[in-house]
Amino acid sequence: MTHDRAHDPPSHTAAPGHPTGTLAIVVIYVRRRMAGDVPLRLPLSGPRHAMNIDFYEKIWMWTAGAIVVLFLTFVAASTFGQGIHPPSHVETIDPTKVFQDPRFARVGTPTELADGTIEVQVAALMFAFVPNEIRVPPARRIRFRMTSADVTHGFIVAGTNANTMIVPGYISQFTTTFDRPGDYLVMCHEFCGNGHHAMHGRIIVDPAATVVKADVAAHEGGH
Ligand code: CUA
Repeated sequence: MTHDRAHDPPSHTAAPGHPTGTLAIVVIYVRRRMAGDVPLRLPLSGPRHAMNIDFYEKIWMWTAGAIVVLFLTFVAASTFGQGIHPPSHVETIDPTKVFQDPRFARVGTPTELADGTIEVQVAALMFAFVPNEIRVPPARRIRFRMTSADVTHGFIVAGTNANTMIVPGYISQFTTTFDRPGDYLVMCHEFCGNGHHAMHGRIIVDPAATVVKADVAAHEGGH
């Protein structure tokens, strides 16, 4: 071998960049600090050539950095661009008494609240949504309030970001707006049993959809 190692950087000594080398430097530095014979100064702040990084190591460093930036970009785009975020509403309910609960007395009847939001109550059970077909007007705030009467189900409105789990014992709630009229497919996306694949419904966004006012609804359904 004629390879002249004399001009190679001292990468085979304890150089930072190699995990063991870095550890050794930290240990030496800490011990000297404890002995009190080193001024307070970062161990890597010496001349630039003191830190040798192999070419391949640089490739992996830049790749790892790029992946982190890419992931953060995806998170930011889905959070701010698409409005996707975890649900934050926590409200409990007895899953065995969903259909006796006054909070689900308006299942099947979209109801306009005092602030103009339209509330849609949905019960999910093996293997259907109740109601199976929901008719709401476009360009209005629609608040879905959903719960399960048995096991965990999912609720996703195809082609939109309306998507939640429906967990027994809890009320899932989110508010959305359908800008365009049309038929939207609703699917259960949590495996809930043998009929899971058949569990779906429809949302029809129709300017002529009828909505009941909350005070009228209270008189009709009030006990
Ligand atoms: Cu309900 Cu899958």
